Order: sequence, then structure tokens, then C-alpha cells
Amino acid sequence: MDTGSPFFGLLLCVAVCSVTFAKECGMSVYYRFDCYPEAGSNQGNCEARGCCWDDSKEYGDVGIPYCFYPTDYEMYQISGPVDTDFGCTANLTRSQPSYYPDTIKDLKLDIYYETKTRLHFKIYDATQKRYEVPIDTPKVTHKASETDYSVLFPSYGFGFGVTRKSTDLPIFNTSVNNGGFLFNDQFIQISTILASNYIYGLGEHRGSLLRSPNWSRFTFGIPTILLILMPLSTVPIRFTLDWSRPTATPTVCFSLTVMLWAIIQPAPAITFRTIGGILDFYIFLGPTPSDVIQQYLEVIGQPFLPPYWGLGFHLCRWGYKSANRTQEIVNRMRAARIPQDTQWNDIDYMQSHEDFTTDSKSFSNLPDVVADLHNHKQHYISMIDPAISSSQPAGSYAPYDDGVKADVFVKDANGKILVGKVWPGNTAFPDFFKPETSGWWNTQLKGFHSQVQFDGVWLDMNEPSNFVDGSFEGCPGNSTLDNPPYLPSLTHGTLYGKTLCPSSQQAISSHYNLHNMFGISEVMVTNKVISQLRGKRPFIISRSTFPSSGVYGGHWLGDNYSKWPDMHYSITGILNFNMFGIPLVGADICGFNDNTNEELCVRWHQLGAFYPFSRNHNSLTCGPKLCIDQDPGAWSSASQDIIRDALTTRYLLLPYLYTLFAEAHINGSTVARPLFFEFPHDPYTYAVDRQFLWGSSLLISPVLDPGAQTIKVTLPAGTWYDFYNGSAISISTTANVTLDAPMEKINLHMREGGILPLQQPNTTTYVSRQGGFELRAAICSKTGTAEGSLYWDDGDTIGTYENGEYIFLKFSLASNTFVSKVVHNKYKDAGDMVLSKVTLYGVAKDPKSVTVNGKAAHYSYVSEVGTLKVSGLYTPMNDTITVKWNA
Ligand SMILES: *[C@@H]1O[C@H](CO)[C@@H](O)[C@H](O)[C@H]1NC(C)=O
Ligand SMILES: *[C@@H]1O[C@H](CO)[C@@H](O)[C@H](O)[C@H]1NC(C)=O
Repeated sequence: MDTGSPFFGLLLCVAVCSVTFAKECGMSVYYRFDCYPEAGSNQGNCEARGCCWDDSKEYGDVGIPYCFYPTDYEMYQISGPVDTDFGCTANLTRSQPSYYPDTIKDLKLDIYYETKTRLHFKIYDATQKRYEVPIDTPKVTHKASETDYSVLFPSYGFGFGVTRKSTDLPIFNTSVNNGGFLFNDQFIQISTILASNYIYGLGEHRGSLLRSPNWSRFTFGIPTILLILMPLSTVPIRFTLDWSRPTATPTVCFSLTVMLWAIIQPAPAITFRTIGGILDFYIFLGPTPSDVIQQYLEVIGQPFLPPYWGLGFHLCRWGYKSANRTQEIVNRMRAARIPQDTQWNDIDYMQSHEDFTTDSKSFSNLPDVVADLHNHKQHYISMIDPAISSSQPAGSYAPYDDGVKADVFVKDANGKILVGKVWPGNTAFPDFFKPETSGWWNTQLKGFHSQVQFDGVWLDMNEPSNFVDGSFEGCPGNSTLDNPPYLPSLTHGTLYGKTLCPSSQQAISSHYNLHNMFGISEVMVTNKVISQLRGKRPFIISRSTFPSSGVYGGHWLGDNYSKWPDMHYSITGILNFNMFGIPLVGADICGFNDNTNEELCVRWHQLGAFYPFSRNHNSLTCGPKLCIDQDPGAWSSASQDIIRDALTTRYLLLPYLYTLFAEAHINGSTVARPLFFEFPHDPYTYAVDRQFLWGSSLLISPVLDPGAQTIKVTLPAGTWYDFYNGSAISISTTANVTLDAPMEKINLHMREGGILPLQQPNTTTYVSRQGGFELRAAICSKTGTAEGSLYWDDGDTIGTYENGEYIFLKFSLASNTFVSKVVHNKYKDAGDMVLSKVTLYGVAKDPKSVTVNGKAAHYSYVSEVGTLKVSGLYTPMNDTITVKWNA
């Protein structure tokens, strides 16, 4: 019976499948890798992909996939590897197309053994060149003579494993045969087993620092670092890792501009998906978290050294509405004697929101405000948006006319200038990858600078943001760039939602490929232009970032809300961007959207005083009304006192902060860092994100809850000195400690063994830089030692470190002797640097005498807390200083 055979055939298939399912689909649910990540999966379309179906497990919003790869899922077969000069290479081939279009069947895998602790691998089309990220990374042609890792290939299927030689522990393993390695033109997917579920990084997110391994999904505009803490000892069995020996931190940097998604699942494992380009990964072996970041930044570049004034306090809002009001705000800061280095304006200073203009009525006197700031040795920052108004009558708006002439704008798929809509109305978008664009941008910024002498720029809207989807005319519906075969859930539903058409054309590639680099391309060009224009260090804050952005500018965490949880999550943002190589980062103090309140705003200033980039910024409207003022001068005098104290403490600490920025610039260390960076052996620190450190020596514990008068903090084992008065807390094992935190106090602790360089604070960095220095030491309770350093230069000249025009001091303390030694000195004004005070925390006994450079010195001793203060000094710092005390 012919008619029966299809039916029979179907039955047979199901029977066969269910038999095999029992074997090949029976892995632990934690090892189920999602075979149908799109919406709308069902048993039929799942099995059509050759995958297993099981909807009996709880799924939830995100969770255990219903449709998952069997362990014998068809995959690429590896041939090779063969050794090469740089490491090894292998071919990957697949006989059948996969279920997404345009399967690339022949791939090449190159593994570069770049340094002892850095492995780099690329997987790409063996026959055709594909898009690769245009950032400078080291080109390595010869493998390192010695490596801490070894690479192992499986006998069957796709993948390879990287293990740490010293422990034989796997740190990366793509040989998960049911991970579904796919490489199609617009869908690439790779999974790896991870050795631990202590996972950090993965782009800009509002949430906790420690990422949940429990089926978390991440979408990045910003492909970025993944940091994994793992033990350096024993076999990693899930949940029973032995953390008793030093930990190690392998990490992966994924550099692709095209959209990237990641899913972490409890195996633990991670899956990366992207819609173009190639796979380009680095693995860094650390072994410490700090080592990993340093190794990462050796690849993408160390951060720039900001001008000293840029570390002062910044004030901004959208909606001052006039230059006069802006001046009034500055005046009330001065009247209240609250530190401020920089005043900003948002787009309301512009005429009809057009770049390089000032509103002819309310901001016509902006140049006077800027001149007044400069007379007070303060600085001014202008917002500049990338989108250029395109609908002015010809001859009336030079930025557009010149741009058309120089041919700088992004084109649509048909080669016409793409027109979108941003603040000024219809706009064109500069292609900063075009060489012509930097000359044009230079002309515009120069012309504007001749009217308004800004000292830095704020680059907003460079995601790039667009108020219409794609362009005024939408996007060509037939382009697979605009509508790729696979998309995960996106905020605006499509790739072109509230941005440019991916099919639009830029000089070096399609916008599809370059989308995530729009921001960095603007920052790179702007950095060059304003460095030349001002002849001083550039100060740029950008909304959009990419690996390497920190080389050219800083970042703020975007439009947050005036809410307590936003204040808490800002700490995660600050710590993440320090790991990403962009240490100059801050969140809007008091919150941007919605009205703040006095308690929140005061607490937020206490925290924000310790953002590496410290700025209060507010929105225009809150609901139907204007937002209330939230600048420090808007509050009661009691609140002003507290804010002044917090910011003055920041200014006191600026030499330490600046030294940390110099170290970041020189060797890629972090400025603000999580506790686990300093205590990698201590699992109690791994999830801490309500406290953080500046460098290795200053612990910051802000209040993050309304009404709190005390806080519970995590203190790692050891002695912690109250920054303000030196009272010590000594604990033998890491503990939660409850501290007093009245409204007027932010808890700051010095870690034992550290020495902080401080300087008499004032209301601007210009004045505070002329004050006497103080060196404050927290003596190690066990060894009686401490150490620290100071990097100092004129704070504004470009290339001081590279040209050697700086002074570097090393401080050490042992056997009741404190020494400041000059390690390098080519700073021309080093003779003006004067030490006025030495403060020592942890001096057990009242000294009989104290000498400075051999001469008896004036001192005081507070026995209750063991603090020795040597003051009234006037000792030049460009020579060795020795302070001794007799116990
Ligand atoms: C990879 O394929 C190329 C081209 O077919 C071939 O020349 C080469 O020998 C292969 N390499 C390996 C390691 O199999
Ligand atoms: C990688 O994982 C596979 C599958 O779990 C396993 O067979 C292989 O031994 C692992 N390789 C390494 C280097 O850990």
C-alpha cells in the first residue's frame, strides 16, 4: 500500500529518534546547549534541526532549553593540527550545511602562542577574507619559547582544550560536542566549558558584579572581557572547588564589532553567538586578577593619563536653560566653598540643538561664563553629538555643507547620504573611519573653540543613536544585513531599531560590521583633534565604548535613575570598566532620570566622591515638570557641609588617585578595583560589590540604603585603619563587621601596609596642587612595615611619562624609619613640592623623640588609637626624606 508508506516512514523515524534520544540526549540538564535560541521552538522544528526536545523541565524566562544538541550532533571535523612558527594551525571541515543559511564549510583555526601567559586563537573562513576588527593588536609571528599553557585536541570532532601546565587544570575547552559549534555567514556560535562559576565582566550591565551562572544571557554592544576566577589546585568538581591554594584567573577577550551574545549556564559553560566577522579570542593566564587585566591591556592598549583637573569634581545638568543660570550655579558652589573643577552644559546650550552653535538668546554670553571659569582656574566641557543637522538651507550651516563637500557622511545602501533624526531634526552621521573626516571634524571643533573655549568634550549619542529606525526612509527590506536570519531579543526588536541601517556604507566596511565601533572611531578622531587644538592633554567622556576606548577617553555609565539600587549598581559599572581598561569612569551622582531627594543625593555624593570620574548630572524634565535642582548648592547647609566634606576628602586624596591613573597608564593596573583583586585567595570577597578599593590601599564602604545609620561591611582578615583617625580594626578571619555610618560619614579604611600620598585640599585642583603634601602610612601590624609611591608631573602636558618629565617617589617604612626616595626626577617644578606632614597609623608606643632628616621634629601622639603625627614640616620632596622615631 503506497499511501501508507510515508506514514510508516514517519513512525519509523520517530521510533529511531526516540531510541537514540535516550542515549544521546541524556546529559545533565546543565549541559544542554540551546539549539533553538529563536522564539517559537517546538518539537517539530527542533527535531528538524537534528536536536533533542524535552519540555518537561521548568523553563522560566531564561533557563534550561527545551531544544538542545545531542552529544553526537554533526560538527566540524578537525584535521591537523600542524606546528607553525607562531604555534599551530588546523583545518575544520563540515560535510553538510547547518540549519542557518550560508554555512562556511571550510574553516581554519590558528592558535598563536604569543607569550608565556597569552594565547590567541582565530577561527575564520579558509577560502574567503571576512571582516576583522580594525584595532591595533600585537602581531606575533614567532611562538613564545616557554608557555604556562598547553593545547590539547580531541581525537574526534571539533574543538580544543587549553590547560594550565603547572596544575594540569583545563581553563578553556571547546570540545563540548553537544555545544553546537556553527560557522555560518551570519551566525557563528562557540561554546566552552568553564572551570569555575565565579564569572565577571561581560560588558556594561546594571546588576551585581558576580555574574550568575544560572542561565544568564548577555547582549553586548561592547564585546568585552570575561574574567573567570578559578582555583589553582585540585580537580574542579562543580561546587566543591578547593580554594585553599592560590587562585588563578584565565580570561577571554572576544574582539568582534558585530553584535555579540553570551549565555552562561551552570555546567559551568558559556556560549558566544555573533552574526558576522570571525572568531578572535585571547586567553590570559594571569595568574592573579590584576595580572590578567595587565595582560589584556598589553593587547588593547593602556589607558590615557587624564589631565589632573579632570580628576576634580564636575557639575552638569540638562536644563540650566541659560548661560546666566549656569553661572549662578557655579557662583553658589564657590559661595559654599564646595570643590569644583569643571562646569558642563548639555545640549540646551546649542541653537536648535545644532552642533557648534550657541543659543543666540539664552547662551549668547556662554563665552563669558567660560572666561570666568578660566579666571578661577576652572574648566569647561561642551557636549558634542555626532549627528549633524542636514536640513538647513544651503550655505547657512557650514558643518553640514563642509561635510558634504568633504564627503564625510555615512551613505545608505544606494550610496546617498543616510538621513536619520536626532535632536536637531534631520541629521547625517559622520563616518569617522574615513581619513577625510578628521580634517573636517578638526575645522568644526576649531571654529567652535574660537567662540567657546572648551577644555574637553562630552561625546553623547554615539551608539549611534537615532530617533527613527534605520533612516528617514527606513532600511531596504531585502538586505540580509538589515534583517539577518538570526536575531536574539533586542531592545528595539531589530538591528536598525533606533540606530542606522546596518546596510549603510562606511569607508572600510558596512555599518553592520562597524556599528559597535562608531563611538570609538569618534573618540579616536576627537582625541587627536583636541590634543592639537589645545596643545594639552585631551579630556573626553564618551557614551559608547569598545576595547581600546580607554586609550583615548573615559566613560560615564549613561542615563541612570535617582534610585537607591542605581546607586548600588553604579559600583559594578565602575569596577567593570576598570577591568575593561577604561578606568576614568563614573555614574551620574544623585541620578539622572527622576527627581532625587536630599538623603539619596547626599549619600550619592559620598560615594561619587570616589568615582574615578566624579560628576553630578541631572535631567531636564521629571514627568511633566522640570526636575528639581540637585547640584550641591541646592541643598540645606547641613547637607552642603557633608557634600563639601566628601569632596574635600577626594581632593585630599588626589595625589594617590593620580598615581593610580599613572600606574594604569604605565602598566595597565586598575584604579578602582573589587576586593577580590587584592584578596584572590579569599572566597568571602568574591561577591562583594557594595564596597571597593582605590588601588590596593584604600577601602571605600558607602551607605547604599535609605535611613541607614550603620553599615555591614566585609573586612578581609588583617588590620584596617580608619582613614580619618587611625583607629584600627584587627580581625583574624574575614568577617562582616557593622560600622557606624551616620549621615555625615562615608567609611574609608586604609589597608595595613599602605602609604598614601595626600595634599592639602582646596576648592580647585589648581590651588590644591600648591598645597603641602602629607604622607599617611598604615603600618602592618605583623611586620611593622609599609610602602607606597607618588607619580607627579605638571598634570596637563601631553606625554609627560613618555618624555620622562615627571617625578616618581617611593615610600617605605620599616624599623621605625620612614623613607621617601626619589626614583626618577625630570619634573621641572619638583623643587616646589613640599612635605608638610607625616601621619603614621599603628604606632604602638608614644615615641621618645622624632627626627626628620636627622633634626628633631614637632610631633603629637594619640595613644588611644596609636597615631603619630609629625607636622609643621617644610621639607623639599625632590630629595630623600628620612623620618625616624624612637620607641
Ligand atoms: C588544510 O587545508 C589546506 C588546503 O586544502 C591544505 O593545503 C593543508 O595542508 C591543510 N592543513 C592541515 C593541517 O590539514
Ligand atoms: C574537554 O572536554 C571533553 C568533553 O567533556 C573531554 O573529553 C576532554 O578531555 C576535555 N579536554 C581538556 C583538555 O580538558
